[in-house]
Amino acid sequence: MDLPVIPTPVFDRWVWMEEFTFSHIPIAAVITAWMFLAPILELIGYRKRDLRYDRLSKSLVYFSMILFSPGAALGTGIPFLIIGLYPEFWARWANMFFWPLIFQFILFTMEVLFLFNFYYLTWDKTMHRKRTHIACGFIAALMGELIQLIWDGIGSYMLTPGGVPLPAVNEPVGFSLAGYLNPSFLSLFLHRSFGNLSFTLLLAGGVFAFRHMRHRVPTEKAYYGFAADVTFTLGFLFFFAQPVIGWFYARVIQGEAPVAFIAMMGGHAWYYFIPKLLLILVFVFIAGTYVFVRHRDKPWLLGAISIGLASFYVIFLNHPPLRVFGSPLAWRIAYTAGILGFIAYLWFVRWRGPALRVPGWQIFLLVAGLASTAVFFFGGNMRERVRSPQTVYGWLEKPEATDYERNRFLTYEKCIGCHIRSPRDLVLPAGETWNQRVAAEARRPEVSLSDEEVVRIASYLEEVDK
Ligand code: HEC
Repeated sequence: MDLPVIPTPVFDRWVWMEEFTFSHIPIAAVITAWMFLAPILELIGYRKRDLRYDRLSKSLVYFSMILFSPGAALGTGIPFLIIGLYPEFWARWANMFFWPLIFQFILFTMEVLFLFNFYYLTWDKTMHRKRTHIACGFIAALMGELIQLIWDGIGSYMLTPGGVPLPAVNEPVGFSLAGYLNPSFLSLFLHRSFGNLSFTLLLAGGVFAFRHMRHRVPTEKAYYGFAADVTFTLGFLFFFAQPVIGWFYARVIQGEAPVAFIAMMGGHAWYYFIPKLLLILVFVFIAGTYVFVRHRDKPWLLGAISIGLASFYVIFLNHPPLRVFGSPLAWRIAYTAGILGFIAYLWFVRWRGPALRVPGWQIFLLVAGLASTAVFFFGGNMRERVRSPQTVYGWLEKPEATDYERNRFLTYEKCIGCHIRSPRDLVLPAGETWNQRVAAEARRPEVSLSDEEVVRIASYLEEVDK
């Protein structure tokens, strides 16, 4: 279908797309996560008769409201951009999910109504009718969660369509339930929900800690210390769900979008894991140290965290050895020592706790918050990159797809399944050309390649080999 594609004056099309979505999605993530938490904190404060929770809850809601307008304004830019830059995608995808899109619009209106009118504006007036007020908070939070549920359904379809075809431009579908409930729908929703709760709370904790450091009024200083502790500790705890959900998410991608899986695990997007992993290590180290010093009097909490860390062992045990470690044994020794060493370190810190006076520890919390935010960016970016050059996996290519990217996709699809490594690691036997080798591989009974595909794969591998 030849719909007119608007050329971008500067930068590639995907840069525009990503900059716009990256302006909107973090804001939506903050609002949804904090709105989810606000009525829970308010309820805790009500039960404990502790007004500090009430203040914290209200401040999260207040900040969400400030972010609401820019978040919404930036969000409206996204469909306009897609309509111009990826018109075929928009025509087919929005037509497949027309009714969920309309439904999220209704939910969005309800969210605004409840958040602004029935939750925030009534806060002080309903201090004596807390239950009703908290219920309004939960309704507002529910709207936010449902909106995310809708977007994660139609967004995850792009990576794992699960065999449900993308309709043609002139085919009015309205809604495809099978496409919506696609294989990675739930994994994406859970991975994003826990990820959002984790990074936005670690970030809030870092900011509160900074205010705690700077404040001169003792009562205010104490409040910010309290707020930093609640949010930061919760953010750290929510993180523990992520590796487990992430593992199952990756398994779904492996089965449903194998080329994207290969792109992540050794293919062209694998290097996203390096900064992601390093940043995770940074915030886990800081948050672990903080919680083990600050909550040294809560052995049940520290015990649970230790068990959580130890349970990551199962994931490492099932993960194929990383080749940088040389041998599978070295890999196993490295992660065993890493996990056990870290748990030992944490209990040592707890024991030494009272003697530890780290000046400017609040800055470390802020660093941890920023590191976790960066992890969120790398994760989202990776989900986009691994599909490239396809917009909807297996159904639609980007208008700007290059031959190089197409051939790469084909090579992953046809070759890496058996070789299970990065294309860079395919070694050409001495005295052969890539054309000869690929033609020879094409003769394997399990491989089916047209002559044209042989040439395309060979040209890609020649390019990689340079
Ligand atoms: C059905 C499984 C399978 C598929 C698909 C496959 N290969 Fe192989 N390939 C093998 C096996 C097995 C060997 C080792 C054969 C041998 O020792 O002679 C091999 C050997 C090779 C070698 C020689 C170097 C080495 O690692 O031993 C290269 C290069 C290679 N394949 C490239 C490719 C390319 C490029 C494709 C995609 C067109 C591809 N293979 C598809 C199974 C496969």
